[in-house]
Parts: sequence; structure tokens; C-alpha cells
Amino acid sequence: MKTARAALIHILQNAYSGEVAAAYAYRGHWKSLKRSPERDRIRQIEEEEWDHRRRVGEWLENLGAAPRPARERVFWSIGRVLGLTCHISGWFMPMYFAGRLESHNSVEYEDAAAFAAELEMHECVRDLLDMARVELEHEEFFRSVVSGHRLLPLMKRLFGWS
Ligand SMILES: [Fe+2]
Ligand SMILES: [Fe+2]
Repeated sequence: MKTARAALIHILQNAYSGEVAAAYAYRGHWKSLKRSPERDRIRQIEEEEWDHRRRVGEWLENLGAAPRPARERVFWSIGRVLGLTCHISGWFMPMYFAGRLESHNSVEYEDAAAFAAELEMHECVRDLLDMARVELEHEEFFRSVVSGHRLLPLMKRLFGWS
């Protein structure tokens, strides 16, 4: 039981810090875009990442754990840097890497949900699966906006993401 608990805490700590990086990156991303439905959607995605961070933080507290300060600092910086680079990197790159990251996020929440199930934390399982579903929606959005782009086949060969 101790290992499932430790594994769950570990994933949640990673996710908690990952969400701050995502939120700041998306903030830079939507601010770099012209007024459009895409911009509105990414702004909404930023809100959803803050919401995830809040919920993950509550589960960490519930487990008697806390975010890891060193990881927080690193991911805060990553988010800020990514947010800034959106202003210079053009349209395609942020969309592509966002989609790839989101596919990782949904798997991360599913893994966490499996450990929570082992611990019989049913409410937590529901909440984590709901977040996994939202991450999948994010991935689908970014997939739909880059689909058919001329750079996509090359990037897929270089970096993966089917
Ligand atoms: Fe998220
Ligand atoms: Fe997301």
C-alpha cells in the first residue's frame, strides 16, 4: 500500500508543477495570437490548467503531501520561457508541442487514477479521470488545429505524436 501511495504522490507532485508550466505557456500563447476562436479556446485552456493545479494541490494535501519546491521553481521558469517564446516562434510550433504535451498529460492522470484506485480513493479516481478527459480534449483541439499543416509530417517524424 505504501508504494501505491508514494507513486500517487509522486505523479501528483509532477502534475502540480507541470500545470503551472502549462498555464503560463498557454497564457503567453493566447496573448501572442490575434483575436480569433482559437485564441479564446487557448485562453479557456489556460483556465482549465489552473483549475487542475488547484484540484491536484487539494489531493496532495489530502494525502498529507506537498508540492516539491525545487520542481515548482523549475516548472514556473519553463512556463514563463515557453510563454515568451510563443511571441517569436511562429504559429505552428506552440500548437504542435502543446498537442504532444497534452497527450502526455492525459496518460499521467490515468496512471495516477490507477494508483488512487489501488488505494480505494474513489472520489480521487473520479476527479483524476475527469482531468484526464479534459487533457484529452486539449490534445484533440491542438491536433485539429495543426492537422493538414505542411510542417506536420516532418515534425511527426522528428518528434513523434501520432
Ligand atoms: Fe491540465
Ligand atoms: Fe491541458
